[in-house]
Amino acid sequence: MSESGPPATGLEGLVVSETRLSDVDGERGRLVIAGSDIEALAGVVSFEEVCARLWSPFVACDAVRIRHALGAARERAFERLSAIHIALEARDGMDALRTSVSHLQPAEEALATNAQLTAAMGVFAAAWYRRTRGLAPLRPDPSLPYAADLHRMLIGERDPARAEAFECYLVTVSDHGINASTLVARVIASTGSDAVSSVVGAIGALKGPLHGGAPGPVLDMLDAIGSAENAVAWLEGELRAGGRIMGMGHRIYRVRDPRAALLERAVEHLERAGVRTARLALARAVERAAEDMLRKRHPDRPLCANVEFYTAILLDAVGLERNAFPPAFACGRVAGWLGHFLEQRATGRLIRPSSRYVGPFPERA
Ligand code: COA
Repeated sequence: MSESGPPATGLEGLVVSETRLSDVDGERGRLVIAGSDIEALAGVVSFEEVCARLWSPFVACDAVRIRHALGAARERAFERLSAIHIALEARDGMDALRTSVSHLQPAEEALATNAQLTAAMGVFAAAWYRRTRGLAPLRPDPSLPYAADLHRMLIGERDPARAEAFECYLVTVSDHGINASTLVARVIASTGSDAVSSVVGAIGALKGPLHGGAPGPVLDMLDAIGSAENAVAWLEGELRAGGRIMGMGHRIYRVRDPRAALLERAVEHLERAGVRTARLALARAVERAAEDMLRKRHPDRPLCANVEFYTAILLDAVGLERNAFPPAFACGRVAGWLGHFLEQRATGRLIRPSSRYVGPFPERA
């Protein structure tokens, strides 16, 4: 196509599909997942329950069945670890996940495929993470709920209070409209390809710092700032140098990301339960300073804290090192990717947009 039009940018505002899975209202700061406000799910329902809500429109399942399926699939994934050990030697956790997940074969039945992928992501992520710390992988305990077992396999011990906060995180990030990685998952699904390919592509998209790679840099930023008094000077220097404040701004939200509030509350809850968390007060001070500063620079474009800002604080508080943050995000978001995979496959429609050609044409003879 060569007709003129607005320059192709980031597809903002474009509706690429109908979905019954989630809705993001960026003006009001409202996230609805499968008919419920995120506030009614995060910290309230289990990860298995949110999987059931995201998958059951397309495949018969409920939270109990999913819990059993995930437990058995974790054990099978653990047995595969020696076969995929080279993938787990990657330095980056998302590279390790992408390569290890690509070794899987989809099962005959959709629920078995979803359970296999979801469980394997957790087992592979935990094995990779422990390897980076010189530790052997921990065998899964299929009797535990998914989130508690994944948390145990990551940090090496059972810790119910932290595991509860971790589950709140997994539910909070389980789905979020047609974000970049979900779009990738749907495009791959639309070609008639399989769920493993769809998830592998989505992992690649989530890896980027503009999508799922921001929380580690948020902690780096807080460490560099060091104290609330230093926040304004540090942030000013960062913006003057042309940098972006990690964990701030969003393509859709024009108010504070509702997930930021939920994760902040989950960390507060941990503190009330007596779990020492190092960075909450500093994070709040930096968020306030960053919001003020960005408001002055961009009076017409509200730039507030996004999910990644308090993801960093929560994942740190539950005992994870920053290299585990992107894989942890993928372990939650896979629930949504798989729902979108099934939804897209049900439409049977190939996603094939157009581009506007701006290159030269050959001279006509
Ligand atoms: N810090 C400083 N400035 C920011 C900013 C941030 N975090 N986010 C956006 N801006 C500025 C841009 O520089 C741009 O300024 P300009 O118009 O003077 O060039 C303006 O705000 C609009 O930004 P734009 O790049 O069009 O927004 P987007 O919708 O493409 O970006 C993000 C959304 C998330 C990619 C962006 O806000 C960002 O990079 N945030 C930091 C990374 C992050 O937290 N990612 C996790 C997302 S959940």
